[in-house]
Amino acid sequence: MGETRIIKNICCIGAGYVGGPTMAVIAQKCPHIKVTVVDLNAQRIADWNDADLDKLPIYEPGLADVVAEARGRNLFFSTDVDKAIDEAQMIFISVNTPTKTYGVGKGMAADLKYIELCARQIARVSKDDKIIVEKSTLPVRTAEALRTILTSTGNHVNFQVLSSPEFLAEGTAVTDLHKPDRVLIGGDADAEGQAAIEALVAVYENWVPRERIITTRVWSSELSKLTANAFLAQRVSSINAISALCEKTGADVDEISRAIGADSRIGAKFLKSSVGFGGSCFQKDILNLVYLCQHFNLPEVAAYWEQVIKMNDYQKHRFAKKIIDSLFNTVSGKKIAFLGWAFKKDTNDTRESAAIYVADELLQDRAEIHIYDPKVRAEQVFADLEYLQTHRKDAIHGVSLTTDEIKNLVKVHVNPYTAMRSAHAIAILTEWDEFKIYDWQKVYGQMLKPAFVFDGRNVVSKTELEEIGFHVYNIGKG
Ligand code: UDX
Ligand code: ADP
Repeated sequence: MGETRIIKNICCIGAGYVGGPTMAVIAQKCPHIKVTVVDLNAQRIADWNDADLDKLPIYEPGLADVVAEARGRNLFFSTDVDKAIDEAQMIFISVNTPTKTYGVGKGMAADLKYIELCARQIARVSKDDKIIVEKSTLPVRTAEALRTILTSTGNHVNFQVLSSPEFLAEGTAVTDLHKPDRVLIGGDADAEGQAAIEALVAVYENWVPRERIITTRVWSSELSKLTANAFLAQRVSSINAISALCEKTGADVDEISRAIGADSRIGAKFLKSSVGFGGSCFQKDILNLVYLCQHFNLPEVAAYWEQVIKMNDYQKHRFAKKIIDSLFNTVSGKKIAFLGWAFKKDTNDTRESAAIYVADELLQDRAEIHIYDPKVRAEQVFADLEYLQTHRKDAIHGVSLTTDEIKNLVKVHVNPYTAMRSAHAIAILTEWDEFKIYDWQKVYGQMLKPAFVFDGRNVVSKTELEEIGFHVYNIGKG
């Protein structure tokens, strides 16, 4: 190596929320590169290959068009992992890295077993030199671990390991990939490392201006990803902390966001107060950061970042408690309609969604929960609630519910109006646009009185709903 290699074949291991959209856009923008996305999950691959683009396994605005353009031309989805590894000069690893639920680092460290399995498979199959790109969010020094596994085969294959964390946000993945603020590529400082970096730069340069491609050492790249997510989550926790104070003082958190966001040093984004952040990255990455700080004996730094998660847990709990308190201190036997289950709008992803935790707290008090989300399927809702029962953290109050209890208390609807009919209260958990244009007069007419709306995303108009007759609670409005 040492010279930039022209990449003709890319393989991506993992066809999920990161691997799927990222590879679809690379294939769209680089018609001269064959991109094969592989996954162990045969159903997922079948869904990616489905002629009906509504059946793609993940929902992202604009994604179906990108897949339609590239699939079958130079974008392929397959379960034949070995073949794709063998053919590729560059292999992206986009497998899931959940927080460990067992053993050392339980509840904090990332579970690297899927990454390790990939590395072992790549090591076993490879016959010629490969560039390995970590795309999944990973703890710092994973590249080092990858390299150790890859180079211990003794088969004289040269592996370069790059870290190129993906910064796309779900719901806007396609636009984020088309016009990224930056692409980050970390590699070794030596000539071979630099050549590998340049090979990946050459891929991105097909559509991303060179000045937006930042190259660093591997560890800086890995730590940048954790830091970026920690900073973004910290902003949400900071404004959520202020929302609690607003409710006590009569201030309005949205007015505060507007006022402080106008300061260009602060900036307007990520200042939307909510029922709490969710998603597969924020909590996991902060926990990784905290674990890393503890490992390197930096307890003050660890405690500082841990507070971002504690504030988020507090915000979810505060919302659930508000519902129970307002409904005369008990929700037992009462029907609560949930609008939204996804962790944010425009995605069908529910990982770490605030809705799961709020539902759990209400279920502890034996509420009947009727859920409507435009993109989340009933099986997913039940899987999320079941998972929580078996992975109850100390921070989550209460006792585990049985499968039968959950089935009896929770109903998932495909029509929002039936979900809300005869309800004591409505809780808005996701900021889907369609919630704004419901016929709220009709909803009010069908509900029990007094009719409550708890708006965890500040999406509906408090004044309009109060004029109709609703009792409205908004986050951060005194
Ligand atoms: C995040 C990062 O933004 C992205 O760069 C990284 O690659 C993955 O993690 P994602 O989790 O998909 O992306 O969505 P994001 O838009 O960051 O939202 C995360 C959570 O914070 C959501 O639950 C969202 O509703 C919440 N949020 C976000 C707020 O409550 N208020 C805000 O102002 C912004
Ligand atoms: P992310 O949000 O990080 O993309 P997902 O869970 O959506 O995470 O996707 C990760 C995908 O990686 C899953 O579809 C899973 O089946 C796949 N995967 C995990 N380990 C392997 C492996 N060793 N080989 C192939 N695919 C894998």
